[in-house]
Amino acid sequence: MKARQGPMPTDFGQNPNPAFYEWLAPWYESAYDWLDTAATVRQWCELLSLAAPRFLPRSSSRSQRPRLLDAGCGPAWHSVEWARAGFAVTAADSSPTMLRIAQSRINTVVPSIDSDPVHLISADLRCWKSAPSFDVVVGHTYLVHLFPPSELLSVAQTFHRLAAPDAVCLLEFGDLRHSSREGTRCFTDGDLRGMSIESEKTTDDTYTQHWHFRERGCVETFWFHSPSALESMFRRAGWRHVHTWFPSAKEQAPSWTRDHRSATRGVLVVSRS
Ligand SMILES: C[S@@+](CC[C@H](N)C(=O)[O-])C[C@H]1O[C@@H](n2cnc3c(N)ncnc32)[C@H](O)[C@@H]1O
Repeated sequence: MKARQGPMPTDFGQNPNPAFYEWLAPWYESAYDWLDTAATVRQWCELLSLAAPRFLPRSSSRSQRPRLLDAGCGPAWHSVEWARAGFAVTAADSSPTMLRIAQSRINTVVPSIDSDPVHLISADLRCWKSAPSFDVVVGHTYLVHLFPPSELLSVAQTFHRLAAPDAVCLLEFGDLRHSSREGTRCFTDGDLRGMSIESEKTTDDTYTQHWHFRERGCVETFWFHSPSALESMFRRAGWRHVHTWFPSAKEQAPSWTRDHRSATRGVLVVSRS
């Protein structure tokens, strides 16, 4: 696998999530097999058409494809859908195993679609300082909740550095403070048979899941960020608020409300200009 190497973390204290996702990577797709990544990307294209139609692919010319960064791409299952939709995609993640899985998906899927190759980059989003310039930055599946406020500010600044002057950034968020469930869930069949997840609200601001599988365990932490906290964080990093879509709002993009497997959670859209 030839992911380009970006800077990796120096010292980010106690955030367990980069190590957690490296541990979960071989089973991530099975654990989240209910996600419908194709539907999600179709829906996010609708959000883009409302918030920043200038970045929808218009021509089949490769040189004119909008440049999109899939931040925290995991196995790149959204990345290949963005490529299929006509974007020139770069996908970045800190987990070497996720990136290997991503590369094998790209090798399999991308040759069969009319698309540029998806470029993979190994980088920590909290300190990545390289120079590429993106028109659209996306963070799927609760990426923003994997960082405490101070680190999330660094991530927002990273995105700002990597963004073209009039770029937009779309970030999925959830109402974790109210929707997180406590208790233990056990997988009783399939690839994950024997896996268990114990979930608890650890502090007023965090929710922790203890995953156990095959004699090993690892901890994931989610930080609650309200939509207004997220908005102000991204403002501090230089972004301008464009729109926040809430699942329960009346005014919705046409087709993305009811399907629980795609973007039924909230999406924050900010612009660099
Ligand atoms: C919830 S998964 C989302 C994966 C994929 N985008 C999806 O929607 O299924 C979060 C991803 O962020 C990556 N990640 C976590 N912390 C990171 C960091 N500091 N820098 C880069 N990637 C990170 C993890 O390795 C993991 O692949």
